[in-house]
Amino acid sequence: MEPVHVAIVYYSATGTVHALAQAAAEGAEKAGAHVRLRKVAELAPPQAINANPAWAQHLQDAADVAEVGHDDLEWADAVLFGTPTRFGNPASQLRAFIDTTGPLWFQGKLADKVYSAFTASNTAHGGQESTLLALGNTFYHWGGIIVPPGYTDPVQFQSGNPYGTSHVAGDGPLSEVALQAARYQARRVVETAAALKAGRDA
Ligand SMILES: Cc1cc2nc3c(=O)[nH]c(=O)nc-3n(C[C@H](O)[C@H](O)[C@H](O)COP(=O)(O)O)c2cc1C
Repeated sequence: MEPVHVAIVYYSATGTVHALAQAAAEGAEKAGAHVRLRKVAELAPPQAINANPAWAQHLQDAADVAEVGHDDLEWADAVLFGTPTRFGNPASQLRAFIDTTGPLWFQGKLADKVYSAFTASNTAHGGQESTLLALGNTFYHWGGIIVPPGYTDPVQFQSGNPYGTSHVAGDGPLSEVALQAARYQARRVVETAAALKAGRDA
């Protein structure tokens, strides 16, 4: 069977979600998938970015990551979306990309794929679940198959978010538990997509 195609599509201002996206890519690759790691375009004005040295630095550090296009979504059997929390919602940069996908949606090209999401926030009750659930609204409209991590692996009892991998950036750098949770979430996505693919090919 052709390996599962996984696109990991993310926005990150200061690097936290980027690191989660990289861990998800590792997890998906280890599970046997072909992976495309893709960022969405930065839309904030330079004066906003340059007012925050960590933001300006990450923009430079991630210069080599390819920007997502519609072809990446078409290619993918499964898509993991990553975004920081912005007032309890996904970042507008990720939303702006999602809002260009009407033509794909209209042709049914976003349906029947596996979708899952991960996030970061500054505080523990700062809106991780609301951000992930808000992304879920879009997956419903696309006719996607939503695959959350739940509590289906021991790491989930440590990381503690059944909706999707998440990290509290205000607590400091990413822990090994959060990175493992991202790898695990991606593996679960690959395994589910592979089972669907095998069933459809049968
Ligand atoms: C405009 C704005 C809104 C934010 N809103 C929230 C929020 O509602 N809750 C929260 O805990 N953190 C909030 N944050 C903090 C970010 O979520 C946090 O910096 C981010 O998760 C770090 O991820 P990154 O390094 O990938 O950019 C906000 C940050 C910005 C710039």
